[in-house]
Amino acid sequence: MSNTEPVYYFDSNATTRVAPEVVAAMLPLLTEQWGNPSSAYRFGHQVGGLLETAREQVAALINADPREIIFTSCGTESSNAALQSALTTQPGKRHIVMTAVEHSANIKYGQLLEKRGCEVTRLPVDSLGELDVHLLHESIRPDTAIVSVMTANNETGVIFPIEEIAAICRSKGVPFHTDAVQAPGKLKLDVRAWGVDFLSLSAHKLHAPKGIGLLYARRGMPFQPFVVGGGQEQGRRAGTENTAYIVAFGCAAQRAQESLTRDVPRIRVLRDRLEAGILSSISGVTRNGAKEPRLANTSNLSFADCEAEAVLLLLDRAGICASSGSACTTGSLAPSHVLTAMGRTPTQALGAVRFSLCQYSTDAEVNYLLAKLPDLIKTLRGSIPTAQRPAVQSAAST
Ligand SMILES: Cc1ncc(COP(=O)(O)O)c(C=O)c1O
Repeated sequence: MSNTEPVYYFDSNATTRVAPEVVAAMLPLLTEQWGNPSSAYRFGHQVGGLLETAREQVAALINADPREIIFTSCGTESSNAALQSALTTQPGKRHIVMTAVEHSANIKYGQLLEKRGCEVTRLPVDSLGELDVHLLHESIRPDTAIVSVMTANNETGVIFPIEEIAAICRSKGVPFHTDAVQAPGKLKLDVRAWGVDFLSLSAHKLHAPKGIGLLYARRGMPFQPFVVGGGQEQGRRAGTENTAYIVAFGCAAQRAQESLTRDVPRIRVLRDRLEAGILSSISGVTRNGAKEPRLANTSNLSFADCEAEAVLLLLDRAGICASSGSACTTGSLAPSHVLTAMGRTPTQALGAVRFSLCQYSTDAEVNYLLAKLPDLIKTLRGSIPTAQRPAVQSAAST
């Protein structure tokens, strides 16, 4: 697709456009203020000052103390680091509790830990993608090192009761981590009110560049670094800081906070119009996940008698970006582990398309999608048998 072709973007849970203000904030760090923040001279100190301002900005987004922020390379690293730290600081504890619908950042790390002799309990969800907190309570054992539950699911947008879960973990004396990667700018985040011990974020979901994330580690929480080497981040994450991206993250965090009141109500109206429009104009469509509590920007819909990958291919030809929850494993499509955990059949799961909006989404984009989709689905349903449809490539679930 050339740069001049319009893009109708409905994949904001995968990544977001970098905001022009964010680009403007980070550019001086690439052109003029390129010093190393750890250097002993003023040229380095000045950059160090910008880094600390960004730390204050991201801390404000989650109501943390800036000293509780550890910059990392991404959300995946942050979540891996939290789990790893809990295990190494409590050597006698080898059990982890998470949900069956976590992002692969947690699911795959859990599988790796199992190979290293840990035990992982994966809590089921119901058909709406919701968790039974009583079951979570029951699953915590004396040897549980950490509980990890995402704030909101990336595929369905379903929001989990983090404050309630944190209280259970606290009552049992077990550290609690939440993967909040999908939440900023969509939900108010408050680590103090919630009482969480660790929280992961990734900047590219809030209109900043890819490749920068953070881990909130509550003060007083024992912490063992995941990446070791230099003394950066107060010895909690080695490696020269990605200064430009950290400054970008700070700017994006400020914008995300403003977005809560400025953009979220409009995004919700737009998402609801999109969803209602599809449900009323196309037969055989079902929503995956609870209607509420759900992120205001996300809609996950299964189209009967259609493969999501074929839908996405035709949408792509019309300039529309959306995604499926399926992951390409060894050349064949596997149904989403999230939808499977919710009891969807493989066929229903393979027919699921996720539409996710952001502050740049417009009425015109939604109108365009609603105009294109019914005919597209009709074409697919009346078309060649599944086996003869064109081969499509799939991206892993993000
Ligand atoms: C819920 C969730 N957790 C973690 C991640 C991983 O974040 P990153 O790409 O920064 O590693 C994603 C990315 O899609 C996500 O949606």
